[in-house]
Amino acid sequence: MTTGLERVLRPGRIGRLALPHRIVMGAMHLGWENRDDDGRALAAFYLARVAGGAGLMVTGGAAVSAAGADVPGFGVLDDAAFRDRLRRVAGEVGAAGGLLALQLFHAGRYARPAADGPRPVAPSAVPSPISRLTPDALPAAGVARIVEDFARGAHHARELGFSAVEIMGSEGYLIDQFLSPLTNRRDDEWGGDPQRRMRFGVAVVRAVRAAVGADFPVVMRMTGDDLLPGGTDRDTVAQYARALVAAGADALNVGVGWHESPVPTVQAVVPPGHWVPVASVVKAAVGGLPVLASNRINRLTQAEAILAGTTLDLVSMARPFLADPALVERSRAGRPVNICVACNQACIDRSLVGAVVSCMVNPLVGREADPGSGAAPAGTDPTASAELPASTDPTGSADPPMPAEPVIHVEPVTRAGPVVRVGAVAGSRAVAVVGAGPAGLRAAHDLALAGHRVTVYEADREPGGQFRLACRVPGKADYAETIRFLTAELTRLGVVLHTGRPVAGADEDLLRRYDGVIVATGVVPRRPDLPGGALPHVRDYGTAFTDDALGRRVAVIGGGGIAVDLAHLASEPGAGPPRQVTILLRGDRLAPRMGRSTRWAVLAELRRRQVTVVTGVRGLRVDPDAVHLVDGTGAARSVPADTVVVAAGQLPADALVRTVRRVGVWHRVVGGARDTVGLDAVRAIAEGHAAALAFQRAARGTGRALRVGEPA
Ligand SMILES: Cc1cc2nc3c(=O)[nH]c(=O)nc-3n(C[C@H](O)[C@H](O)[C@H](O)COP(=O)(O)O)c2cc1C
Ligand code: SF4
Repeated sequence: MTTGLERVLRPGRIGRLALPHRIVMGAMHLGWENRDDDGRALAAFYLARVAGGAGLMVTGGAAVSAAGADVPGFGVLDDAAFRDRLRRVAGEVGAAGGLLALQLFHAGRYARPAADGPRPVAPSAVPSPISRLTPDALPAAGVARIVEDFARGAHHARELGFSAVEIMGSEGYLIDQFLSPLTNRRDDEWGGDPQRRMRFGVAVVRAVRAAVGADFPVVMRMTGDDLLPGGTDRDTVAQYARALVAAGADALNVGVGWHESPVPTVQAVVPPGHWVPVASVVKAAVGGLPVLASNRINRLTQAEAILAGTTLDLVSMARPFLADPALVERSRAGRPVNICVACNQACIDRSLVGAVVSCMVNPLVGREADPGSGAAPAGTDPTASAELPASTDPTGSADPPMPAEPVIHVEPVTRAGPVVRVGAVAGSRAVAVVGAGPAGLRAAHDLALAGHRVTVYEADREPGGQFRLACRVPGKADYAETIRFLTAELTRLGVVLHTGRPVAGADEDLLRRYDGVIVATGVVPRRPDLPGGALPHVRDYGTAFTDDALGRRVAVIGGGGIAVDLAHLASEPGAGPPRQVTILLRGDRLAPRMGRSTRWAVLAELRRRQVTVVTGVRGLRVDPDAVHLVDGTGAARSVPADTVVVAAGQLPADALVRTVRRVGVWHRVVGGARDTVGLDAVRAIAEGHAAALAFQRAARGTGRALRVGEPA
């Protein structure tokens, strides 16, 4: 066992449920709970986490009634077909030695029903900024019926074979709506003062306890701080926590904030561990009962520090289990972990619109049932190319004309960690990956896992591509971890990485030595023709990110995510007076493609730092002291600037594509080199993964059985 994780890896307990360690996988609604596959994909998702050492896991919310469903397609426990799928999931997880809690959920006024779905209901008819609907106020009899719905859901959970239930009472859903004076305007037995507003949550816990019996573990997820002006005060939270325990909760899982709170809680700008004190306040209120800290804790070392520095008992981690299903086993073994970078791009942002969830740094999320089969994810099919040449068919007489090298063959991950055998693998192929940005590294990783001999060529002195720029942005330091993880894995898998080695048109002979080439050469910044654009203080964004010599007055030309990141970086407080940063954009909406959960938080931060944004910009001209322009109102303006950064888009760095076509080698073009329109890291990494799968399929077509499995 790795030293330094003794507290985290110590067994724990919730009620009568023994836990193998102190990490609980937090609830995540994945978007495929209701897939008509007999629960196969959902079971595979959890089984991959069990194999990676997860202890107790909590499912995404399962609605206790149709009106409680969050979005169309949400699983409803009254639906027998949904329950059948859950039975399979609970059964398979249990058989594998895993522990799964079913989360009982009611969205209340946050529900976004289909046009022909039930109307949202809530304690009072207070409009929801999330659904933009006004719910129906529940009659008293309706409130009592929902309490019964929770009890029925809990009964189902036990009968279906789950190990525990978690009641979703946080993040501003129905139970929170009863607790808060902002959303509960009633004056009856369910509202009017704090005691009566608490009554619904307490009644739910009591009814759930009665439904499942004394020995079945019941976790209550509650809000420790709603982060809303005029919301529930701390004294009420403490009293409420005690009342929940008295009603029969075995543990309290402390959430933070509502979906409508104006304070970021899960974004990259939130420092890891920031919300632990909120959970500590609840712990102080309830004494010995297990309390879980949650939100934005992304390393086991952090969890260890939390357990060491507080009286908290358990730590919930949700997204980190998307990023790395083997988070616990890898940490236990002291191996590199694929860290969740809190980008939200493939998980929360998709979940918010009811789409299927995945993970930017782990494109295998959602494909656990069939990791090697994958068609490219929607919109990510890399450019097709030549088929594998027949001459490289390993089942035929002609072996690939490659020098014999030792290769590494990896067995699927087990609790004991991967088995790595060094030796020749029949039919392994030689593949060159050109470009060691996230897309290229991911492709190399997946190819090497399948037993191929992979060589990566990177023109820069270091691997990482655009992530090397991103990790300098405040809150994005963990992007360096993605690169560190992938490069460490490549080393372990025997991949050869050449840095400072561009591959160009003159390298035809080099390329001919490979059975396949993945072109992942990325992008080059677009430099629009601009009067004064050649002046020495005008830089492209790549240089500006890595150049520590930005002036005190910085003008950023461009309105996308990179321009925002640059402004964020340039406005970071440091030595000397604050920089004066101005963003100049042609359109009227800054960073329109930035993820919904992140954009508002980052723009609020820029506002706090007094970054100026000028929209509708035309007629740009740069001189040594200023940028001159006409703004959206038609007014001529001069923005003083001693550094001008151009972040006005990117072009594919695709010169190599012509060469590989000429050579006739099997190839795929991925990431920015393929297309810069709509490019983001989710797409780039997914394309790297899809290219590795495409090579597998092509190789399989020539007779060799290959697989790309869950990363070991
Ligand atoms: C895709 C996704 C879906 C989620 N769905 C739920 C849910 O159904 N119920 C719930 O209580 N929390 C849900 N959450 C919130 C997580 O449980 C957790 O509070 C949040 O991700 C912050 O914790 P983390 O930093 O450990 O990820 C979801 C989070 C994600 C990323
Ligand atoms: S998509 Fe981003 S935030 Fe979500 S789990 Fe993956 S790395 Fe974390």
